[in-house]
Amino acid sequence: MDAFLEQREQRGLLRFITCGSVDDGKSTLIGRLLYECGALYDDQLDALEADSKRHGTQGDELDFALLMDGLSAEREQGITIDVAYRFFSTDRRSFIVADTPGHEQYTRNMVTGASTADCALILIDATKGVVTQTRRHAFIVGALGVRHVAAVITKMDLVDGTEEAFRRIEADVREVAAGGGFDHVCIPVSGLRGDNVTQRSERLPWYDGPTILSYLESVEIDEERMQAKPFRLPVQWVNRPDAAFRGFSGMIAGGVVRPGDPVRIAPTGRTSTVERIVTYDRDLDVAVAGQAVTLTLADEIDVSRGDVIAGSDSPPEVADQFEATIVWMADDPMLRGRGYLIRVGTRTVGMTIAPLKYKVNPETLEHVAATRLELNEIGVCAIELSERIAFDPYVENRDTGGFVVIDRITRQTVGAGLLRFALRRSHNVHWQSLDVDRTARASIKGQRPCVVWLTGLSGAGKSTIANLLERALHARGSHTYVLDGDNVRHGLNKDLGFTDADRVENIRRVAEVAKLMSDAGLIVIVAFISPFAQERRMARSLFGEGAFVEVFVDAPLELAEERDPKGLYRKARSGELANFTGIDSPYERPEAAEVTIDTATLSAEEAADLLVSFLARSEVIS
Ligand code: ADX
Repeated sequence: MDAFLEQREQRGLLRFITCGSVDDGKSTLIGRLLYECGALYDDQLDALEADSKRHGTQGDELDFALLMDGLSAEREQGITIDVAYRFFSTDRRSFIVADTPGHEQYTRNMVTGASTADCALILIDATKGVVTQTRRHAFIVGALGVRHVAAVITKMDLVDGTEEAFRRIEADVREVAAGGGFDHVCIPVSGLRGDNVTQRSERLPWYDGPTILSYLESVEIDEERMQAKPFRLPVQWVNRPDAAFRGFSGMIAGGVVRPGDPVRIAPTGRTSTVERIVTYDRDLDVAVAGQAVTLTLADEIDVSRGDVIAGSDSPPEVADQFEATIVWMADDPMLRGRGYLIRVGTRTVGMTIAPLKYKVNPETLEHVAATRLELNEIGVCAIELSERIAFDPYVENRDTGGFVVIDRITRQTVGAGLLRFALRRSHNVHWQSLDVDRTARASIKGQRPCVVWLTGLSGAGKSTIANLLERALHARGSHTYVLDGDNVRHGLNKDLGFTDADRVENIRRVAEVAKLMSDAGLIVIVAFISPFAQERRMARSLFGEGAFVEVFVDAPLELAEERDPKGLYRKARSGELANFTGIDSPYERPEAAEVTIDTATLSAEEAADLLVSFLARSEVIS
């Protein structure tokens, strides 16, 4: 690998992705390409020869499809292969090919491969022509900023190499490529016979374009193009081995840098000058996009991981609200209003989707209204970040404009996307600070604001306990308000139902209302099922230490169902009511609630008393 990466310094490294499936003749083509470039090891060749004799479909010839079959076998066994990367080189260039399966259920794999690709080979079976899968592949590579595409028309041997068949497909490809943002060529090949893979073929004398290999050897490498862009160094880490040295390390994501260059740090806006460009063995006079370096600056200014060091004449934009395209990669759907983490460049901050504008049908390019994204779906959303970040639109720079979405709890990557542009509202809406604040409002009431958040199954007794608690507090002179799920759903939230997405939004809104009421100085009692741990956590995050008390009103399902105060369990069991919590919609039990009330042993009155004494002990009330 080291030797390989070193070679690229001299010869240039092209990353490309192949889009297609085994049926398109993909394995035969890639197998032949690797073979003719001498990229196969002797033992692979021996195995291929033996397998070709035994199982091959090509008589005495090598059956290149068998070379790739190892991979599909692993896939069938359920071993997840995100993307298979293969390396090879010729005298002119080195190559990394990302080989991803073409079917729709592998969209996320293709996105991963395409996000770093300089060019894409989209395979089209000559016997079938352009199909819906071709359109999806073209859409994905276009959306991910791949600028060069070769439409490889495979199996030309099966259409007798007729020029007419090729020209027809070529015309269809032109139509698909229009608006994709990439340039394209069409190359007729036969992986089986080796036509136009690395060798020109006399069997297709009417074709005068490049072979696959000559195309790959001459197509533009993105990294070289990125050198002409403004300078960007997303800071990966602050390198501080001793008091004398402070350097900022990372991979240059655009442009060129030299000692003496003036720079601006984004998002803070501080300025300085580059002093040295340090690498592991020597200082450099110049460094370019794609190189990993450490910069030292002339001034002692504050730079942290996640900041972007940029050319001072063309700094990146700074914003916290964007329109973005997202590809969803997790089994659990993406929900509007749910909190995620987003990583842009080297910066990780909180993110919520607000709202999902539409999904794209990648085969027809139609926009479809939606409230959530499922696995492998692609949508356009407004997103809100917890902090302002430095960025470039993805079309300008994939490294500072591309992102991954991370689940807050599992820390798994659940999506990937690209920033299209900053929403203007992020510049125009400012926080208005007021002179009378939360503390002032509360002190006139002689209390500390607090949110008592009751969660539990329907019928667990939340509303009853909330009512008794408010009565007790009111009698002691406290200023209170109860937000009850059923009541709030009559007004503010009457547009929401009981799907996961609606429940997430339900809780987001009530948490925000509770926050406003607590700013008004009130003790707020919330009684909502609030079935998801993640939203309860989000609600808690809006309040300071001690100002949010989670109360788990714990009733076993059988007990709640037996009580069935509104007859809803009966309806849910008989199928009249869908998505009912505990029946066909989940309830995630709290793991670290401040108070747990076991309703099997405590009466509602006892529960309310318990909460009053908890609040007194925590000095919310005196
Ligand atoms: S939450 O899950 O989004 O927090 P919320 O507390 O607002 O729920 O509303 C729950 C109330 O709505 C229940 O007490 C019940 O009266 C009523 N309800 C109607 N349909 C459902 C359902 N499918 N699941 C749960 N509660 C339902």
